[in-house]
Amino acid sequence: MSNVVDVYTRLRVENPVSRVALSGAPVWLVTRNEDVRFVLTDNRFSLAHSIDEGVPRLGTFAPQPGSLLASDPPEHTRLRKLVAKAFTVRRIEELRPYVRRTSEELLERLARNHGASADLIENFTAPLPIRVICHILGVPERDQPLFREWTEKIASVTGTPLEEVKAGWRNLEDYIAGLVHEKRRNPTDDLLSVLVSARDEDEKLSERELVQFGITLLTAGHETTKNQIANSVLVLLRDCPEQWRRLCADSESIPKAVEELLRYVPLFGFDVTFPRVAREEVTINGVTVGAGETVLVAITSANRDGEMFDAPDTLDIERVDNHHLAFGSGVHRCLGAQLAKIELEVALEGLVRHFPRLETALDGTSPKWNTGSFIRSLRTLPVRWPTT
Ligand code: HEM
Repeated sequence: MSNVVDVYTRLRVENPVSRVALSGAPVWLVTRNEDVRFVLTDNRFSLAHSIDEGVPRLGTFAPQPGSLLASDPPEHTRLRKLVAKAFTVRRIEELRPYVRRTSEELLERLARNHGASADLIENFTAPLPIRVICHILGVPERDQPLFREWTEKIASVTGTPLEEVKAGWRNLEDYIAGLVHEKRRNPTDDLLSVLVSARDEDEKLSERELVQFGITLLTAGHETTKNQIANSVLVLLRDCPEQWRRLCADSESIPKAVEELLRYVPLFGFDVTFPRVAREEVTINGVTVGAGETVLVAITSANRDGEMFDAPDTLDIERVDNHHLAFGSGVHRCLGAQLAKIELEVALEGLVRHFPRLETALDGTSPKWNTGSFIRSLRTLPVRWPTT
């Protein structure tokens, strides 16, 4: 990580809007916090055009037509409005007791069934967000082995053959279409049923958009949070154990710590979020980007910008005024931000309470990362908790 941090530190000073190659094609890479914010909030940069024929892609990774992340206003505004109500701060706060109960159940089972060591991902950081998003959407949790595998395929940027990525999309589409069919026959009290009625009764969205909603919410709803929790725990236990001990002593600090972990711990495997295409000529920090050119914004770099943050490369769980860009900005700002924060808070609260002596069981070995994925993900996170 430190090499990458150094590269971004240099780029922000010397070449903040630089020319790089994406799958062999020249694109722009934006690294300063202010410039990243500018690109994310300026409607002259389009996500819809990022999936046009011939536009440089992040390897095999791309949002699908009809999804929130492949649309611009006004289509995006119409789509987002349909789900915004389910994700307001108040509605999501109402879910906190459910998230707590689920977390407690998983942590108690971990302590009961696993002696004093386990893989924290399989036993905690994966099942927690999966259960929560399944509960919100009305997706059967027993199907998780299937949709987890397909999610990993579609999140692949390099290393997975295109045919397998396409099969991942097809499987997810068929799967969600099947659920939609079921909800039509037996509507239940969940978000997918609400979206089905928005389609059927009010014709507010097409069938394709409906299915894409299901896929986006299901996949973004677990893959991100699962890894953000795991990556954060790794950083706390391995690199900053004194901050872990502070959290154990004072769990009131957890909400601030969560913001800081979102800033400090990189989630995007290639440091960038979804590429944008300039609809017209735009100047970014004195550099002219031509109409039709692709722009990448490096969230990891923006979150370590010394012009925005004091001691940017230090994890400081007491940091205030933390204007990080982990959830993006502008019209596409993460719909699930509040949900993710609650999950992260509840996960940390539970871990420090049940396992204050938690430590990694890496024993000097390097953690194993999945390579080539849009989301930076550990294969496992072995931990132990001395009980005597
Ligand atoms: C730590 C966890 C998470 C992080 C760091 C994160 C990050 C992001 C970012 C950076 C974006 C904007 C992408 C862009 O503009 O290029 C985004 C969009 C989105 N996120 Fe999240 N996310 C997280 C969790 C979630 C969860 C739990 C959900 C569940 C609903 C979710 C659903 C979405 C959706 C639907 C969008 C697209 C919004 C739109 O285009 O209007 N995310 N997320």
